[in-house]
Amino acid sequence: MGEEYDALARKEELRVDRIRSKRMKDEDLFKTVEEVFDVKTVMALYQMINNGPIDRVFGAVKAGKESRVYWAKGKSGEDLAVKIYLTSSMEFKKSIRQYIQGDPRFKDSRDYRKLIYTWAQKEFKNLSQAYGAGVRVPKPIHVSQNILVMEFIGEDGVPAPTLKSLAEGEISSRIYEDVMGMLDRLYRDAGLVHADLSEYNIMVHQGKVYFIDMGQAVLSAHPMADVFLSRDVGNLIRFFEKKGLNPPDPESVIKWLRRQ
Ligand SMILES: Nc1ncnc2c1ncn2[C@@H]1O[C@H](COP(=O)(O)OP(=O)(O)OP(=O)(O)O)[C@@H](O)[C@H]1O
Ligand SMILES: [Mg+2]
Repeated sequence: MGEEYDALARKEELRVDRIRSKRMKDEDLFKTVEEVFDVKTVMALYQMINNGPIDRVFGAVKAGKESRVYWAKGKSGEDLAVKIYLTSSMEFKKSIRQYIQGDPRFKDSRDYRKLIYTWAQKEFKNLSQAYGAGVRVPKPIHVSQNILVMEFIGEDGVPAPTLKSLAEGEISSRIYEDVMGMLDRLYRDAGLVHADLSEYNIMVHQGKVYFIDMGQAVLSAHPMADVFLSRDVGNLIRFFEKKGLNPPDPESVIKWLRRQ
């Protein structure tokens, strides 16, 4: 009887501990996110902690105009990146329509919140399509409403540097070849055009490049795909030229991508 009672008491203690630690987490979470996000977003994040892949959320690693990226831990202690799109940026609304219209995978919407949800879904789907084709991108893990969960590229909550922030001497022809190899896979195997590819949206982790920020990527059959592809290739060639490499001209890179 005494033993049974002890066991019950211990169980109750554990339960209280769990509630306490959950409450701590909730407070942390509110501290981190309450200022920027609306109730619906915070609730969706709770859902992901209660029944989803997230264990806890740490601070923001990047606060942009359109999204915040947080470092988080998954249920098995793995690092995660949680990208939350803001539901309040009007400019963003205007700029994202052109990437949704003309893509048979998604419906345009007048409702701004729905449009942002579509955008998060679109980034998730693009990442999945690229990842499945062997393009190095953060592994997509979960998407709900305006929240995208993916593999964290970096260490101990510090994101890997972007190509932009690498030191001059680190930008080698090996990095160039890696970028071109990934571009080839993205275009030919995944059938996608990134549409915002530049030194800002490529991370370099353990000597390997990762394409990030895929919300605006479109199918290669999209009516604007050729325009976006030329722009992407132009950005990359300009960057590598500026860094003292001697890349081919953009036209021949595009011909190579098309195997013409
Ligand atoms: N999977 C990831 N792992 C680690 N850090 C990441 C990850 N995804 C994004 N980041 C960090 O967040 C930054 C912004 O991410 P991203 O480019 O996807 O968002 P964005 O809204 O387009 O921001 P920006 O307008 O600054 O480009 C990246 O430069 C990188 O530092
Ligand atoms: Mg970006």
